[in-house]
Formats: sequence, structure tokens, C-alpha cells
Amino acid sequence: MAESMTGLKRTCRCAELGKENIGQTVTVMGWVQKSRNKGGIVFVDLRDRSGIIQLIFEESSVGSEGFGKAAKLRSEFVAAVTGEVAARSGAVNENLATGEIEIVARDIRILSESETPPFPIEENSRTKDDLRLKYRYLDLRRPDLQRNLMLRSEVTSQVRQFLADEGFLEIETPALNKSTPEGARDYLVPSRVHPGSFYALPQSPQLFKQLLMCSGYDRYFQVARCFRDEDLRADRQPEFTQIDMELSFVDEEDVMDVNERLLQRIFRLIGVEIELPLPRLTWQEAMDRFGSDKPDTRFGMELRDVTEIVRNCGFGVFTGAIENGGSVRGIRAEGQGSMPRKKIDKLVDFAKDFGAKGLAYLSINEDGTYKSSFAKFMTEEELDALVREMEGKPGDLLLFAADKNKVVWDVLGSLRLELAQQMELLDKNRYQFLWVTEFPLLEYNDELGRYQAMHHPFTMPVEEDLPYLESDPGRVRARAYDIVLNGTELGGGSVRIHQNDIQEKMFEALGFTKESAYSQFGFLLNAFKYGVPPHAGLAYGLDRLIMLMAKEDSIRDVIAFPKVKDASCLMTEAPGSVDPSQLEELGIGILESGEE
Ligand code: AMO
Ligand code: AMP
Repeated sequence: MAESMTGLKRTCRCAELGKENIGQTVTVMGWVQKSRNKGGIVFVDLRDRSGIIQLIFEESSVGSEGFGKAAKLRSEFVAAVTGEVAARSGAVNENLATGEIEIVARDIRILSESETPPFPIEENSRTKDDLRLKYRYLDLRRPDLQRNLMLRSEVTSQVRQFLADEGFLEIETPALNKSTPEGARDYLVPSRVHPGSFYALPQSPQLFKQLLMCSGYDRYFQVARCFRDEDLRADRQPEFTQIDMELSFVDEEDVMDVNERLLQRIFRLIGVEIELPLPRLTWQEAMDRFGSDKPDTRFGMELRDVTEIVRNCGFGVFTGAIENGGSVRGIRAEGQGSMPRKKIDKLVDFAKDFGAKGLAYLSINEDGTYKSSFAKFMTEEELDALVREMEGKPGDLLLFAADKNKVVWDVLGSLRLELAQQMELLDKNRYQFLWVTEFPLLEYNDELGRYQAMHHPFTMPVEEDLPYLESDPGRVRARAYDIVLNGTELGGGSVRIHQNDIQEKMFEALGFTKESAYSQFGFLLNAFKYGVPPHAGLAYGLDRLIMLMAKEDSIRDVIAFPKVKDASCLMTEAPGSVDPSQLEELGIGILESGEE
């Protein structure tokens, strides 16, 4: 028995009203949060995306038919109510923005009824994730998610405005593309017209934005949907959104400058004033000090290299690792010296999950004596020297890893974050930005038995490292930069190669022949023959940016319809099987499992 809203107009949203509106007649429309029938009077909390307002129904003002309707209201019914704004007759509700007022209803229409929802629509829901995601359209009614999506919309619109003011053009690039290797796994789309051929959904608009630079659109941006078939994590979804940009006739300083001002502008939306310029660390320094290329600099606990101190000590685990070309490094957990053995053992297991063979520890007792897993292998002097190097104080816990550099960084970098979590050092109200620069250009892929581009094959090497591209590719640094916020990689970019000779050397280092490079990137390489400007760019993960601004732990909470860990959608049940005739049309057969 839903009623029509013909002839009725909403005058404002529920929580847009305040004391200044007292005496005005208004019409609000929304969902019933709750209703209480106190005999002769019905109180209703009506909710829309602005918030909640209290409505009062008394027969004397709303009439007997209206009162009858009000008495029927249940949670999530949709109602339109006209009435007069008045000061609260009862106690002021400090928890509500509209807590000082209420609407004395004169007329009500029930626009839609609701079944009892599977979970209450409320802030900080304790409902299980799976149920929430199955009924995402109800979950999205919750005020916290509504705030997140409103923030997202506001940020996107400010980004557009800022970039337009800076002379950027918004240009769309195709979603149906040719698959190119490198990077993550592609999502493929079969072609009906070309049976056996596939499009790939874009992992990023990288090649197209470089082509746009060739075409003279010297400042481009796009709010671009990207697709990557990779393992999901809290900050990864199979489809996500980039704020993608590219600029011509610039170097890294120009890109960083415009982006610092962009970040400053959008963080003002949440009342955060970022001081510019943002700090910078080279990749090497980030690894040495934090064991991570996306360090969380909200707290210290930096890594210390103690290789030289323990090089000739009696502890075989340490000296063995050093002899194998590795290093020994440690971190100091301040005031954690009395951590019980069981908890330390958990840290050891944690370290092993990150590839450590073990984790050596030393706690400094309040009386200055040590308790350590390796004290028996070292002399008193050796231990003292180690503690001194670590600046250990009574009550501290020192943790050491010995292995190849990459393992040691990974282990201690992760351990540092784990400890910070345990020690409650991660303040979500603090925003610590950081540029990480001079990434290695290439990394060796043991599986492929060759070097791979750390960023992508079009990233410009640092000029003075060019001679090593052939002789020692691993030591070549890239003119690449990442923007990091509180330990999350928010975005990344680079200066691109625009010289054919350097590009050719790069492909050689990556193991491409001229033919294979042309067969995959021919259109770009050909375009570069006709006059290509020096160019550089960057892309943000918009979802990650909003996650941090909204102080959420997962990008799921800032995406309207996200996917779960196995890349499925619990609401639509995508992906699903398709009609055999569709497959036939595409020339696709499905192998039974196990069939080769
Ligand atoms: P990159 O691969 O570093 O660079 O991606 C840019 C940013 O996109 C975000 N991101 C993701 N967010 C959510 N889910 C994912 N699966 C995911 N993968 C990446 C990250 C990341 O920093 N074309 C280059 C940019 C350039 O060089 O201009 C690129 O795509 O926040
Ligand atoms: P073990 O001699 O193997 O019993 O090891 C002695 C101590 O060294 C134990 O506390 C181990 O956890 C630790 N340990 C073993 N391998 C490593 C390593 N690669 N780095 C740091 N500590 C280690």
C-alpha cells in the first residue's frame, strides 16, 4: 500500500535542519531508523544520507488517519513527512546534529514498506562481513559507509577541479585492449568477431597516456578504472580506480610539485594541513632505515646494520650469513624487555613467515644484565658492543635477523610494523607523507631467469647509471618515485624514456628481441619515431587514498560494490557460468578439471 508522492516536494534533507529553521514548514523524505509508540504520541527517527531528524506525531496535529499511518511505521519504511520545525519538547539529544529540534508532523505518506532487514542499519555494524556484502545495498545505508562514499565523491570532484585549473585535460582511454606482458595477470575478454582472440582489460592507461603525450595533449588526467588479476589483500581489489596523469616537457620535480599541491588541497577536506615540501627518501635509504620501500614514518624503531660489529663474533648464525654475502641488522623495541617468552616465540614465527630462518633476541634487564637467545655464543664484550651499537637501554628488547639483505629487510620491516601495532604506535589521525625515489630500475626474477622492470619498461634510468645497463643491470637506478602515506603506497610514477637508443638498451636488458618488443609495444615504439616530447607522470590508487582519509583499514569500505578475497561479488554472485550458446558463439570450450 505504498502511496504516491505526487504533489509533494522534498524541501531539504533531514539533518540539514537546525535551530535557525524553527517555525518553518518543511517536507523531509527518508527511511525510518526507529519508531516508538508512546500511546498518544509516536516518535520517529527519520534518516537520509545527511543524518537523522526526530519526528513527532500527535493526532491533534497530524489527524487520525495520519496518526494511524505513523503508528504503522517500522524500520526501513520510506516515508514523506510535512510538518513544522520546533524546539525539542523533550531533552536535547547531544549525539544528534539535529538534537535540539524536531518536526511536528502535519502530514505523512508511506512511500514504501520494508521487510525486517537481515541486520540493523547502524553505525559501526557488528554484523559479519559476508552478510553485509550479500545485502550490500542495505549495508550502504549505514552512516559510516555513506560518509566514506560522500568523501570519495568530494575528493574526486576536487581533484578534477584542481587539475583542470592546472591545465590538465581529462581524456578517456579504452577498456578493451591488447594484452601486454609484465605487471600483474590480465583480465581477458574473448572476441566474438575474432574467435580465439582476446582483449585485455587495462591494468593502467600507461601506454595510452604516453601516446597522448606524443599527440600533444601536454597535460592529461583520467579517473581510470583498472583491472588486475592478482591476490586480494586489504588494500587490493581486482578492479580499482586510479587518478592517472601524465605531463610533457617536465621532469620529476614538476610532477612532484603539482602532486604535493594536489594532496595539500584534498587533505584540507578532512581538516589536515600538509606541510610542503614533503620529505623524500631514496629507495636505498628507505630499505636501510625501515626495511621497506613504503615506510611508515609515524614512529621510529629504525633498523640498524650491525654487520661490522658482529663480523668476527662467536655466533655462527651471524657470521655464516655475513660470509654468504648477507648482513645482520636489528631493531630496538623500546620498553619491551619484559616481553614474555611465549610472545617472543610468536614474533619468531612471524619472522619465519616472512622468510627468516630464525630471529635472535636480546632483552636488557632493568639491572643492565641480558637475557638472550645467543648470549652463550658471544663474549661479554661482544654483547656490550652490540647493545651499544643498538643504543639499547635497560627495559628494551633487541631483535636481530641475519640473512641476505632482501630477507633481512623484509623480516625486520614487517616485524617493525607488527611491533608498532602491538605497542599502539600507529595513530590514524597522523598523516606522514613521503616520496621514495631512485628505485632500482630492474629486479632479477629467479623464476624467469632474467631481469624484470620494477615499474615498467618505459621508465627512464638515472643518467649516470646508464653505463651499467649492460654490465650490471641490477645496480641501475630509475627516475621513479612513489608517494607513500603511513606505510601505504598511495601512488607511483616515473620519468619515461623518450630516446630510442635508451629504450632499445632497456629492452635488451629485459631480454626482449627487437621483434618481440615490436610485436608487443610496436604502436608506442612507432609513435616515438614521429617526435616525442620528454614526459613523466604518476598514478594514485584512489581507493587507497580514500581509505586513509576515512581512517578505514580496508579499501572495501570505500568502494560501493567491492569484491571479496576470491574476487567474487557476494551480492550479484559474479563471476557466473554463461549459456553454452554464448560460449559457442565465442568459439570457447571449457576443459573439464584435470583435462589437459
Ligand atoms: P602502479 O602499478 O604503481 O603504477 O599503480 C598505481 C597505484 O595504483 C594503486 N593500485 C591498486 N589499488 C587497489 N587495488 C589494486 N589491485 C591496485 N594496484 C595498484 C596503488 C598504486 O600506487 N601506470 C603506472 C603509473 C605511472 O607510472 O604513471 C601504474 O599503474 O595505489
Ligand atoms: P640455533 O643455533 O639455530 O638454535 O639459533 C640460535 C638463535 O639464533 C635462535 O634464537 C634462533 O631463532 C636464532 N636464529 C637462527 N637463524 C637466524 C637468522 N638467520 N637470523 C637471526 N637469528 C637467527
